[in-house]
Amino acid sequence: MASDRRKFIKQLGSTIVLTSASLSGFAAMEDHERRILQAEKRYSPNDKIRIATVGMGIMGFNDTRAALTCLGVELVACCDLYQGRLQRAKEIYGANIFTTADYHEIIDRKDVDAIIVATSDNWHSTIANAAMRKGKAVYSEKPMVHYLSEGLGEIKTQQETKAVFQVGSQRVSSLAFQKAKELYQSGAIGQINTVEASFNRQNALGAWQYTIPLDAGLQTVGWDRFQANEKTKLPYESNRFFRWRNYREYGTGVAGDLFVHLLTGIHFITNSKGPDKIFSIGGTYYWKDGRNVPDVMSAVIEYPATKEHPAFQANLRVNFISGEGERSSTKIIGSEGVIELDDDQGFTIRKNKMPVAPGIGGWDSFYTYPEAMQKALMDDYNKKYSATDQKAPSLPGVTYHSPDGYNSSNDHFANFMDAIRNGKPVVEDAVFGFRAAAPALACNESYFQNKVIHWDAENMKVV
Ligand SMILES: NC(=O)c1ccc[n+]([C@@H]2O[C@H](COP(=O)([O-])OP(=O)(O)OC[C@H]3O[C@@H](n4cnc5c(N)ncnc54)[C@H](O)[C@@H]3O)[C@@H](O)[C@H]2O)c1
Repeated sequence: MASDRRKFIKQLGSTIVLTSASLSGFAAMEDHERRILQAEKRYSPNDKIRIATVGMGIMGFNDTRAALTCLGVELVACCDLYQGRLQRAKEIYGANIFTTADYHEIIDRKDVDAIIVATSDNWHSTIANAAMRKGKAVYSEKPMVHYLSEGLGEIKTQQETKAVFQVGSQRVSSLAFQKAKELYQSGAIGQINTVEASFNRQNALGAWQYTIPLDAGLQTVGWDRFQANEKTKLPYESNRFFRWRNYREYGTGVAGDLFVHLLTGIHFITNSKGPDKIFSIGGTYYWKDGRNVPDVMSAVIEYPATKEHPAFQANLRVNFISGEGERSSTKIIGSEGVIELDDDQGFTIRKNKMPVAPGIGGWDSFYTYPEAMQKALMDDYNKKYSATDQKAPSLPGVTYHSPDGYNSSNDHFANFMDAIRNGKPVVEDAVFGFRAAAPALACNESYFQNKVIHWDAENMKVV
């Protein structure tokens, strides 16, 4: 593993193509290299971090794999409400792994230092709060909370317990986002005024119609536990359990699932605390499978001017039936350029600056005037503006790609483990996590209530 990391560090320098010499600060990458090497140095065999994962579904397996790429991390236990997934955990991690359907049995264990919460959204906050109260470090998947009303309570738990707590939106640890942030903050695109960000998908799995096992049913699924937090108890339905994202009762729709990634990236790059006005529209246009959340959704979000950034607008969109195919992008548009991030693996910066001269001719009133007037105007213009002033400056762009095989989740876990082991601040704390989740959840509020949501980002309250 250590040699893999060293090999990886060697690769880092070679895969970056920065076509502008003036934009060649490599601080983010150097920090990243330093952190990997320090993490290696500081680990000793007595220094194991023992983890347990609650919610052993798609992301539970992914997060556990990523956590175990960190040195000195050991998996002790897994918790899930479907028996087949606990069986799978033993197949992968060995028969000695403790498994249970009751998360209390996990957070009560003395031999567990850190808990990964990778359940459906409806359980994130309950389990994270309970685990922090039991003295565990917590890595909570996004969105940090299911409902806006849960956010401040969870922040308070973290502050009271001083637990190491990190939210699992890995863009914050991604090399591409760190590099883009560095260039954005150095003024690469002038003054930000707009963000256009989207996820496009065009397949059933992308639209959350995940495979359901053949033995799904009350014998194999802890259905009562799954809906224990619900006021209205419903009879068992495989779709509701295995495709919970399609139901507001357990998930947070495309906004909580995907807008939250976009908002995390935007807030990270701009240092924003969040917007003050949120409006969203949506509809179930294609995947009419009983879901009660939209499959196409758009939001218009307004960020006021603050000391961190000028005023800007964000347009977010998720489209699960997009003829554009599978594509995610975040375009951060400024007065002198645009950063376009492609998921979390790379970005391009294109720079465009207005010429000093305002221009004359072309699509202009110039040709509507008598010839003598045109001549006089042109003479005047050429006297006033030099040839250089009349031309838009040609500015080199920037292209960046993460090294092949780079995985931002691994880095996000490295940061989490570093906070546990070395007391470093986490890269995505509860306040940041809630400030990214809240406007996403407010998009749902806006859509379901058909109104503009006003948000106080400083105090994290709907106003
Ligand atoms: N960071 C990312 O990029 C990323 C990617 C995908 C998913 N996620 C997040 O990860 C979470 C899980 O998503 P998924 O796709 O893995 O879902 P999934 O349905 O595959 O897995 C969720 C699992 O949680 C279990 N579960 C639910 N309630 C539980 C409880 N009270 N106790 C124990 N287990 C419980 C279920 O049995 C299920 O197996 C979601 O919140 C999602 O937003 C994050």
